[in-house]
Amino acid sequence: MHTYATAALGFFLLNGITVALEAPAGDPSIDASLYSTFRRMTKYAAASYASDCPIPPNNSTVVQYFDNATTDTQATLFRDDAREELIIAFRGTSNLKDFTSDAAQTLVPLTAVKTEDCGSNCRVQEGVHKAWNSVSTSIVAVMQDQISAHPGYHPIVTGHSLGASIASLSSASLVHYFPDLTTYTLGQFRTGNPAYAAYIDRILPFPNMYRITHTNDGIPQTIHKSSGYLHHSTEFWELEPFGPKNTYKCQPGDDDECNQSTFGLGIGGVVTLEGINPAHTCYTGIPIGNPLDGGAGA
Ligand SMILES: *[C@@H]1O[C@H](CO)[C@@H](O)[C@H](O)[C@H]1NC(C)=O
Ligand SMILES: *[C@@H]1O[C@H](CO)[C@@H](O)[C@H](O)[C@H]1NC(C)=O
Ligand SMILES: *[C@@H]1O[C@H](CO)[C@@H](O)[C@H](O)[C@H]1NC(C)=O
Ligand SMILES: *[C@@H]1O[C@H](CO)[C@@H](O)[C@H](O)[C@H]1NC(C)=O
Repeated sequence: MHTYATAALGFFLLNGITVALEAPAGDPSIDASLYSTFRRMTKYAAASYASDCPIPPNNSTVVQYFDNATTDTQATLFRDDAREELIIAFRGTSNLKDFTSDAAQTLVPLTAVKTEDCGSNCRVQEGVHKAWNSVSTSIVAVMQDQISAHPGYHPIVTGHSLGASIASLSSASLVHYFPDLTTYTLGQFRTGNPAYAAYIDRILPFPNMYRITHTNDGIPQTIHKSSGYLHHSTEFWELEPFGPKNTYKCQPGDDDECNQSTFGLGIGGVVTLEGINPAHTCYTGIPIGNPLDGGAGA
């Protein structure tokens, strides 16, 4: 409860701050159908914050909930039979500070299943690595069963916040089982070192990895490059009012002109003050992962 109270105070303070945002020069807006996919994925990522989801998004069904109590990692596997999609959505956390604070920046060698080809320089954030490794065996097994039972279904990964970083890392494993995998992350903090970013760009080239950011969301501005981290491609930056015209495809890699061109003042940034702010808790116009909104947050 203490965390919620602190966060609540911060939201009220930060809501009063206006940030000037300019569209990135030269970067194109996206089309309506891609935007509607972003919106659909936001619904799944938001739904993964709930332990019980009686009305899953888009008339989908919940195949299974995953929960490892040791690492406090949760995910929900959805199946949309109309669209023939199998969607694994990773839950975020209101305790993001535990993951992005200066005390939690340790990079560890990547040892997740099937990722040996990343090479010996490949390093990822320790907490995200533990989280994925604690659920990977069960998630791979259930997804394989589902794809066998429903051949031709499109495997998709999504998640918001910490769930976005786990989504990124899980994709590095899952794409080796499901080569047509597509991943959509929302408000992802930097997850690994430059070798990791290059690896993701190699195994999940555009258009297989969408890294969506919103206005001045402070979380994608952590963990800092100066700590040895780097974002992978491809960032899609949403400005407001929400919609395809105000959503831009950014330059490959860790683009300075999109979300990074703003200052994401918020909760959790210990030294440089970027962190959770209102922009982090709304994507494609949908409230997500906000501890003040009981329906959408954890
Ligand atoms: C699925 O989501 C899209 C995008 O938000 C929406 O337009 C559509 O009506 C939804 N379909 C169903 C069956 O819920
Ligand atoms: C929802 O999905 C079920 C099967 O899962 C299908 O029978 C039903 O027609 C769908 N409804 C809509 C509105 O798409
Ligand atoms: C949960 O995670 C812990 C730590 O990674 C692991 O030892 C344990 O086997 C996991 N539990 C299950 C059911 O996979
Ligand atoms: C944002 O981008 C500018 C350059 O456009 C850069 O100088 C600054 O360090 C970036 N901010 C963060 C938090 O990375």
